[in-house]
Amino acid sequence: MTTAPLLLQISDPHFGTEVPTAVRALERLAREHSPDVVVFSGDITQRATRQQFDAARAFADRLGARDVVAIPGNHDIPLFQLGARLLSPYGRYRRAFGDDLEPVFESDAWLVIGVNTTRWYRHEDGEVSTEQIERVAERLSRARPEQVRLVVTHQPVLVTRTEDEKNRLHGREDAVARWSAAGADLILGGHIHLPFVRPLQGAFTPCPRAMWAVQAGTAVSTRLRSGQPNSVNILRRASSMGMSRRSCTVERWDCAMGDDRFVRADVKELLLDDAALSPSLLMHSSSIPSFRGADR
Ligand SMILES: [Fe+2]
Ligand SMILES: [Fe+2]
Repeated sequence: MTTAPLLLQISDPHFGTEVPTAVRALERLAREHSPDVVVFSGDITQRATRQQFDAARAFADRLGARDVVAIPGNHDIPLFQLGARLLSPYGRYRRAFGDDLEPVFESDAWLVIGVNTTRWYRHEDGEVSTEQIERVAERLSRARPEQVRLVVTHQPVLVTRTEDEKNRLHGREDAVARWSAAGADLILGGHIHLPFVRPLQGAFTPCPRAMWAVQAGTAVSTRLRSGQPNSVNILRRASSMGMSRRSCTVERWDCAMGDDRFVRADVKELLLDDAALSPSLLMHSSSIPSFRGADR
């Protein structure tokens, strides 16, 4: 039996504020699913201390993924130690997760392009520069036809609530237009600790092809958004449709406070090819609380 290629998105774990039971539950989830690649979409630590990065690195190693793609979030730059913030904002991050702040991963199934949207001179906000937009577009243009193409930013390009509008990525309009034209399928993000999947086509102009915002909640931190449990996303290539028709499913897996397992709570199947269809025709959604029992 062959299994569908699988990507695990972990966002905003904020090590230093982690819930030990959720950490263990996520390690178990990863072991059970053995993802091809784990994507950390920023805010890996709470205060960018060496101890927090050491704990995060050890956690990443325990997941047993073949590859890890990580980008920093605003919390991964020292906030109160001004010298470190100005002179070596990514020093501790690099020691734990490597020198490359914008890693690229590719396989037969996935092309994952990380973008560092943090800036030492900004507090929480993120931005993407013209040079970064072009570099990502150039790499997208060399994607293999069968690959699902993901760009990872920390701050979201799209939000669903008015109170989150201030958290949107600066430069997002140019980025979405350029990356859509260059063939991107999904933009993965975090930062607002609110998981959702939404179409970008229709929300941005121009956005010439089907493209999706995939946001993850906080994976294991106590910094929960009101009413939201800890959660991660699992992305699978939809094996039933074969690799010739590019599609993938986005599954949200939740871990309620005090629970010792992540359980599948929602599944969205995204058709990715570029027909100018209404997004509602390209996405099938199901909330599946009944999976709670089946997946425990
Ligand atoms: Fe965060
Ligand atoms: Fe953040």
